Amino acid sequence: MRLKDKVAIVTGGSGDIGRATAVRFAIEGASVMVADINEESGLETIQMIKDDGGKAEFIRTDVSNPQDVEKMVTSTIDTFGKLNILFNNAGVSIEEKKIPDVSLDTWQKVMDINSTGVFLGLKYAIPKMEAGSSIINTASVAGIKGQKLLSAYTASKSSVIAITKAAASENGRKNIRVNAIAPGVINTEMVTFWKETKKWPAISTANALKRIGKPEEVANAVLFLASDESSFITGETLLVDGGTLNL
Ligand SMILES: NC(=O)c1ccc[n+]([C@@H]2O[C@H](COP(=O)([O-])OP(=O)(O)OC[C@H]3O[C@@H](n4cnc5c(N)ncnc54)[C@H](O)[C@@H]3O)[C@@H](O)[C@H]2O)c1
Repeated sequence: MRLKDKVAIVTGGSGDIGRATAVRFAIEGASVMVADINEESGLETIQMIKDDGGKAEFIRTDVSNPQDVEKMVTSTIDTFGKLNILFNNAGVSIEEKKIPDVSLDTWQKVMDINSTGVFLGLKYAIPKMEAGSSIINTASVAGIKGQKLLSAYTASKSSVIAITKAAASENGRKNIRVNAIAPGVINTEMVTFWKETKKWPAISTANALKRIGKPEEVANAVLFLASDESSFITGETLLVDGGTLNL
């Protein structure tokens, strides 16, 4: 088992990438706190883990709310005794629009969840983490490319890559590692909107492997970064994109 006796928080654990990762973490021996605004799906995630003989609890958390995030961390420690892994993964996407048509409300909402949400996770978890802990933040290929028509999403994910590097530098001496993953197009609830558009066949195969990614393939990469197998890697952003940027 690669995470034996570890304690992990997975934000966005009611969604597809978060759920696949929470389930995988538990199979590898971790106790998992699933944190999300969606209680119904979050309870399903923890039931899947419990049915497999693993340990998991759910806490309703809005990652953009500081009180919620602080409580998420303290409740995890109260429940499982410590905190070794944080997967800062909750996020939202937006409909395609050119910058002049993006409302300030939309910009603010995306930044609050995707960017401030990651900051708050780091802010409250790091002081409670022991040496050897690992944090993984979910960025996106969009945050590297600068995706047209998705300005707020792209900007929010770029900031995740930047704060990952800052947090890695600040916490290296304590042996707390901080990395990011940058998924390409992954078959999750988030891409449902695209599936109804004419662009979908092109979007879903716009990578060297010519297919869409699976949540479990992202979970494998997160597991590597969470485990001691990546013990000399910090401040890195790992692309999980089937070669999207290599076309
Ligand atoms: N699916 C893709 O193609 C893709 C590509 C790159 C990056 N990502 C990123 O992966 C992460 C996971 O997304 P997914 O693809 O599994 O989509 P998803 O919609 O299945 O999961 C997202 C989860 O985040 C939760 N969430 C949204 N706002 C929240 C908030 N304020 N507080 C707490 N939870 C909140 C949702 O309830 C949902 O469970 C996101 O950060 C997303 O931006 C996805």
